[in-house]
Amino acid sequence: MSLKEKIIRDRVPVHIAIIMDGNGRWAKKRGFVRTLGHEKGVDAVRETVEAATELGIRYLTLYAFSTENWNRPKYEIDALMKLLVKSVNKERKTFMDNNISLMAIGDLGNLPSKSYHELMKTIEDTSGNTGLRLVLALNYSSRWEIVEAARSLARKVSDGTLKADEINIDSFVSLLTTSSIPDPELLIRTSGEYRVSNFLLWQIAYTELYFTPTLWPDFSKEEFYKAVVDYQGRERRFGMTSEQLKQQKNRHLN
Ligand code: IPE
Ligand code: IPE
Ligand code: MG
Repeated sequence: MSLKEKIIRDRVPVHIAIIMDGNGRWAKKRGFVRTLGHEKGVDAVRETVEAATELGIRYLTLYAFSTENWNRPKYEIDALMKLLVKSVNKERKTFMDNNISLMAIGDLGNLPSKSYHELMKTIEDTSGNTGLRLVLALNYSSRWEIVEAARSLARKVSDGTLKADEINIDSFVSLLTTSSIPDPELLIRTSGEYRVSNFLLWQIAYTELYFTPTLWPDFSKEEFYKAVVDYQGRERRFGMTSEQLKQQKNRHLN
C-alpha cells in the first residue's frame, strides 16, 4: 500500500502549517549560493500545495519570512523579496485553475512596496476561490502578533468599547491575524531543527508537531503524506485520559 493510500481521507487535518527550513544548507551542500536554495524551495512549495489540494486539506500555512529574517544579509533579503514577487505572479494562473485562494498573515504593510502590491493583487484575484486556502506567513512573528492583539484590546478598553472583564480567549483570538483560520492540527518543520522560531505560538497550543531531517528543497509529496500518516496514528487527548476518549468514541458510534 502506498503512503497516500494509507491516509484516511475523512480524517485529514483541516489545517497544516509548515516551517520551511533548510534552503541555505541545501545550497551549501552543493556548493551553490544560498539564494539558489530558496529558488529550489519554490518547487517544493508547488509540490506541497498540489499534495494538500489532492488530499482536500482546507488550510495550508507556510512560514516564508519571519520578522527575524530581516537580520540576514541584504542580498539574501532582496533575493527572497524578488522571489516572492515572481512566484505570486507566476502562480496566479495555477491558483485560479485549481480553485486556490491566497491569504497572508504578518506585518504586511512593512514589506517592500512591490512585494506588497503583487501579493495583494493575487490575494484579491483569488479571493473568490473556494478550494485550498494557502496562507503565507510573511514578515510574521508570533510575539509581534500577540502584542498587536494586546494593544488593540487595550485601545478598546480605553475608548470604552470593551470592558476589561470582557477580555477572554474569544475576544483575544478575534484580534489575531489568524482570526478567520482554525488552529492547525499539524505543524511540520523540516531540516532537523527542533524549534518553532516564533511561529503561531498561540495557535499551536494543541497542535501535533512533526519534525523531519529533510531539507526544504527536498521536501516532496511523499514526505507530506508521511507526515499526515504519522499524524493520523496519534491520539489527541486534549488533557483527557485515553479511556475517556475511547468512551467518547463509543458513545458517538452508538
Ligand atoms: C528557510 O531556509 C527559508 C527562510 C528562512 C526564508 P533557510 O534559509 O533558513 O535555510 P538554512 O536554515 O540556513 O539551511
Ligand atoms: C524559520 O526559519 C523562519 C522561516 C522558515 C521563514 P529560520 O531559519 O529563520 O529559523 P532559525 O533562525 O533557525 O530559528
Ligand atoms: Mg533556517
